Amino acid sequence: MSFRYTHQADYSRFPGNDIALIMKRIEEFNTLQDIDTILDKILDEARHLTKADAGSIFIVEDGGLRFGYVHNDTLFKKDAANEEIYVDFSVPIDHHSIVGYVAATGDTVVIDDAYRLPEGSPFTFNSEYDQKSGYKTRSILAVPLHTFHGRLVGVMQLINAKDDSGGMAPFSKKALDIIPLLANNAAVAIDRGIMNREMILRMVKMAELRDPTETGAHVQRVGAYSAEIYHQWAIRQGIDKQERSRKKDIIRLAAMLHDVGKVGIPDQILKKPDKLSDHEFNIMKWHTVYGGRLFINQASALDRMSMQIALNHHEKWGGGGYPGYIEDLMQSDVMAGNSKVRDQVPLGARIVSLADVFDALTSRRSYKDPWTDERALSIIESEAGRQFDPDVVEAFFQILPVIRAIRSKYRE
Ligand code: C2E
Ligand code: SIN
Ligand code: SIN
Ligand code: FE
Ligand code: FE
Repeated sequence: MSFRYTHQADYSRFPGNDIALIMKRIEEFNTLQDIDTILDKILDEARHLTKADAGSIFIVEDGGLRFGYVHNDTLFKKDAANEEIYVDFSVPIDHHSIVGYVAATGDTVVIDDAYRLPEGSPFTFNSEYDQKSGYKTRSILAVPLHTFHGRLVGVMQLINAKDDSGGMAPFSKKALDIIPLLANNAAVAIDRGIMNREMILRMVKMAELRDPTETGAHVQRVGAYSAEIYHQWAIRQGIDKQERSRKKDIIRLAAMLHDVGKVGIPDQILKKPDKLSDHEFNIMKWHTVYGGRLFINQASALDRMSMQIALNHHEKWGGGGYPGYIEDLMQSDVMAGNSKVRDQVPLGARIVSLADVFDALTSRRSYKDPWTDERALSIIESEAGRQFDPDVVEAFFQILPVIRAIRSKYRE
């Protein structure tokens, strides 16, 4: 089956010359790291230095502290995809909670036993999480994360320090000395991670401003679904931790940009409230080619992944997807050959294809109502080995609780 793309995008007629702006942003790509990866690394480092069993980071947002990330060696299966990191709640910045107190005062709080706070402590320890999870919190070290300019970015809370033989112990003098040094650098890295995520969302917004169905929430869901499906897939394949973490980050960001090529699709098609005609759908298919072209320079691993995903996310495992093999993406009269099959479709695209379809099915679109989970999952199951890579489908089903946590975190 071959398909000829004879349309040529006229980028100049898009408002504000979006493409030029997007290209400029893409130049900043080489240094990108996603906020979730940064939080994960900070907790790894801080817990390593203090021998803490668990830890979490809260980020200042809208005048409160929003839960950002959590580690817990006792409760969470090592290295497994984990729904707890997508839990969504905020704590006020005041003297009631420990993290709120740290944010409000800028003080570091050191506690040897959470259940026996010193007489006259202004804050209280909230044991709700312990009760729910069966965890037993003892020592706590909560530090404010200030930039070098003294601006508060968040609070890090480390829990249950251990001594050299792995027994419970208070946080050591060495830990208390070293963590404040880490805190400044952590604050700066978190700032950068937040900016990176926002930059991607701005790019998506420029491209999809005119498409009422492609929201920031959709894009964050597809990014997170794809990252976690990859994570699980990589564990199943025995990919080592460093490679896994690097690629997970890149896949999340690139997946957020999967439909950025819709910037080249005319309004009357993009916004059509009804079913597309065959002719209109053929034009719509061009969003894969337009998207691929945006990353043609392939200067970084993120560019390469973004290119593979934008171009190939509508190919199908068993064939019959689009756009198919293209010899020269930049040629104005692109000639597409046979559709790709199986692992001719790059892994990132095989993953995003599933994440995108699951999200499209379970969301409202101008042309359809949301499907029930049951119906969406049964389609995905029956398309394993047809539309979708069966290994990717299997990884997806193994992390359903994570998928659901992501959906409830990034709601419309
Ligand atoms: P999208 O809405 O983000 O959908 C992404 C993909 O999810 C679709 O790729 C398709 O594989 C799957 N999908 C979405 N809705 C359904 C559904 O009701 N049933 C099934 N079986 N699969 C579904 P596809 O088909 O290549 O479409 C790409 C994009 O083209 C869509 O992105 C959407 O923006 C647009 N589009 C497709 N069909 C229509 C339509 O009938 N009307 C309008 N207005 N736009 C459409
Ligand atoms: C465009 O008009 O620039 C894109 C859609 C088409 O190929 O006609
Ligand atoms: C077209 O008019 O774009 C071709 C129709 C089709 O192949 O679906
Ligand atoms: Fe698409
Ligand atoms: Fe999409």
